[in-house]
Amino acid sequence: MLTKVRTATLSGIRGYPVTVETDLHRGLPGFHIVGLADTTIKEASMRIKPAIQNCGGVFPGEKVTVNLVPAGRPKEGSHFDLPIALGIMMLGSEMIELEDTAFIGEVSLDGTINGVRGALPLAICLREAGIRNLVLPLENAEEASILEDINILPVSHLQQAADYVLGRYNLPLYKRKETGRPPEAGSLDFAQVIGQESVKRAILVGAAGNHGILMMGSPGCGKTMMARRIPGILPALTYEEKVEITGIYSVAGLLSPDRPVIEQRPFRSPHHNITQTGLIGGGTRPRPGELSLAHRGVLFLDELGEFESKVIDAMRQPIEEGVIRINRNLEEVIFPSEVMMVIASNPCRCGNLWDNRNPCTCSRQQLQSYRRKLMGPFADRVDIHIKVNPVDKDMLNRLEGLPRMSTAEMRDKVSRARAIQNERYRKESFQSNGQLDEKGIARYCVLGKEGRELMMASYDRLGLSMRAYSKILKMARTIADLEGSDRIRTEHVAEALMYRVDLDTV
Ligand SMILES: Nc1ncnc2c1ncn2[C@@H]1O[C@H](COP(=O)(O)OP(=O)(O)O)[C@@H](O)[C@H]1O
Ligand SMILES: [Mg+2]
Repeated sequence: MLTKVRTATLSGIRGYPVTVETDLHRGLPGFHIVGLADTTIKEASMRIKPAIQNCGGVFPGEKVTVNLVPAGRPKEGSHFDLPIALGIMMLGSEMIELEDTAFIGEVSLDGTINGVRGALPLAICLREAGIRNLVLPLENAEEASILEDINILPVSHLQQAADYVLGRYNLPLYKRKETGRPPEAGSLDFAQVIGQESVKRAILVGAAGNHGILMMGSPGCGKTMMARRIPGILPALTYEEKVEITGIYSVAGLLSPDRPVIEQRPFRSPHHNITQTGLIGGGTRPRPGELSLAHRGVLFLDELGEFESKVIDAMRQPIEEGVIRINRNLEEVIFPSEVMMVIASNPCRCGNLWDNRNPCTCSRQQLQSYRRKLMGPFADRVDIHIKVNPVDKDMLNRLEGLPRMSTAEMRDKVSRARAIQNERYRKESFQSNGQLDEKGIARYCVLGKEGRELMMASYDRLGLSMRAYSKILKMARTIADLEGSDRIRTEHVAEALMYRVDLDTV
């Protein structure tokens, strides 16, 4: 006697279909799970027996063997409880056709079905594998119902699921609650920022071309305030992006009844005492870190100088590649991390270096070690480097009543510049100027004679590195796109040069 129930397992943020085979043999009573199951699955044996009995079912008095197919792939997760329990309950009964139905769910001792991590990626892989019906915990129904072309059948008790597979009860289809309500108009608007128009312009360029940005300035000049407003000027998420990001949050266990689907561009601002694993991701059962939770949104590192050097260095490779690779359990787990990097920093540890009123109390040595940490190879990979000046009282008075660039205006410009890039890079592996590699730069960032001369003169005068040189070309391309200009003109180069301030020497 053999039953087969379909389910799936997770690897990083991807799901893979699995079939649970259950077989009964003569012999001493026993319960074995084979097929590279991890401890959460092995523990299922402890939960399932009482759960089945509490549903009025009979746990077989013979030898039960559960085999998870394909045997070669490692499997994890308490969501195997439900398919395993059903496989056992179906032994000896008339089985209904289950070819196109799959099951996920954690089972309590009393038979209650609890929500699980990763329901959305599991559902995605099952849909791709031809599954039409997915029976899952009620808690995960809203999240999974973002998908089309798969019937979501929520259950809250093992009894319901058992009655369904035994053909005694028809599970009602889940109807999505989400009404597609528009994202709430943000209370964070760039119009609230007084002055700082040149910083806002640099931020606009960064958002338009997907360039990272590093702002250095005295405490209280508005760095954090402006950083928080950046997601508001990025284009609204597409359906595909929502599914992708919600999948990441699902695996991280960060969805809730209040927020079953991620509708807004992520803004993550990890505290500076975060661990390397917290930032990059990992662990015995790999979970996404902040770099992946910020995928397709903003990763804001406030007070970069306070982060551990080791943690800063660990971000270098993921930022360059756009993905994080973690080797675990015979396989490579991949987490995405395409983020807009936004960094804020004081000029020195005490913060007063650029302040005329308060003297800086840092020693020369402290100053040097702070800058060394800040301006290392990681920051060098961030395109835009600017200095943020305080807005003093006189300036406040003068600025009163002057027009201020608002979030709506900025978002509009970003959208238009991004549309131009999408069109230009339609056949490329990248979508934005910030992602251009050397070949892309040579092809798409061609300067006129005058622009080239300006670049050459600046190369010597500013002592630019080759890396800084390419970054300026990419930013000039974005500035031209913001203007809707095919050609990169000299004034675009001149503006781009302002966004590569050598913060080490100011
Ligand atoms: N340019 C500005 N316009 C309006 N308010 C500002 C500005 N700069 C600073 N503030 C006010 O000062 C507070 C502190 O600014 P913050 O962004 O935290 O500074 P920083 O991060 O540079 O230390 C903000 O919450 C805001 O209320
Ligand atoms: Mg701040």
